[in-house]
Amino acid sequence: MWKKILVTGGAGFIGSNLVHEIQRMFPECDLIVIDDFSSGSFKNMLASHCDVIAEDLYSFQWEYYFSKNEIPLVFHLASLTDTTVVDERRQMQNNVEAFRKLLRFFSGTPTRIIYASSAAVYGKASGRNRIQDQPHPANPYGFSKLQMEHLAAAYSKENPQARITGLRYFNVYGPREAHKGKSSSMILQIAKQIKEGKAPRLFSFGEQKRDFVYVADVVKATILTAIKDCPVAVLNVGSGCAKSFNDVIQILNQILKTEAKAEYFPCPYPFYQVHTEADLELTQYHLGYIPEYSLERGIEAYFKSGWLF
Ligand SMILES: NC(=O)c1ccc[n+]([C@@H]2O[C@H](COP(=O)([O-])OP(=O)(O)OC[C@H]3O[C@@H](n4cnc5c(N)ncnc54)[C@H](O)[C@@H]3O)[C@@H](O)[C@H]2O)c1
Repeated sequence: MWKKILVTGGAGFIGSNLVHEIQRMFPECDLIVIDDFSSGSFKNMLASHCDVIAEDLYSFQWEYYFSKNEIPLVFHLASLTDTTVVDERRQMQNNVEAFRKLLRFFSGTPTRIIYASSAAVYGKASGRNRIQDQPHPANPYGFSKLQMEHLAAAYSKENPQARITGLRYFNVYGPREAHKGKSSSMILQIAKQIKEGKAPRLFSFGEQKRDFVYVADVVKATILTAIKDCPVAVLNVGSGCAKSFNDVIQILNQILKTEAKAEYFPCPYPFYQVHTEADLELTQYHLGYIPEYSLERGIEAYFKSGWLF
């Protein structure tokens, strides 16, 4: 289908799962990964066989590595992903300026570009998040993702022949995320605390809801975006169903056969989202994407994968 595919951020959590699925689905295709290993890990790539370019995209010399029309499909996932980094220059340079360089290189080509945006662009909004809602990023990370969407919109205008789509991933969890440490999913963080016999620590009173989405569903939606070649600029990718942190503890207790109880403490952040939930109407319409994993099924699959512990 595609002779060459480029995945940036392929040593990271979602990127490495994407790499493995691409190799399973399209074994004939040449796969190239660009990752500077600032947060990703070789451990995620042990079962993959692709060319890995270990470079920082902010200073990347595109012309040195590639000719203009060489790559028909790009998945751009590389990003500073620690959402608590408040160094605005770092967030903007790493996420926005690196993306600008990428777009400049592919400008004028028909290359299909799919890039990772984030539910963080909704920021202060609470409840069901729809693409047509006014974005309200609450931190530099969310702001940088929104700026990427603006760049993509301008690129699309200048390159009407090209297709570019941003995917607003919600709270992704699953295999190959352990390298993220304190930025890993709450599923992993809570599971670890339970496993160590500690009371999982939650902001009072654990009722905040998130759209937790299993990485296999995220990978499916990401590949579907390429296969369907849909003309849409931005889509939500989540489970479409919000669950509370207390729900997570309850499901983990069932799966791990434990009786852990949360220890609540006051939230230190002046702003903390109460509820996120992906509205999937457009995603379903354009991609035919239907999430396969409920939170229960996803955590069970994660546990069985051997990557949770
Ligand atoms: N995991 C989530 O819940 C979630 C939610 C919303 C959006 N996203 C987005 O999805 C994408 C993948 O996230 P992830 O969870 O896999 O994070 P991750 O940190 O595991 O992966 C990011 C990868 O990008 C690489 N990288 C970072 N800056 C780079 C640079 N300048 N040049 C080259 N490589 C660089 C890192 O080394 C890492 O391997 C990111 O764009 C992130 O913003 C993730």
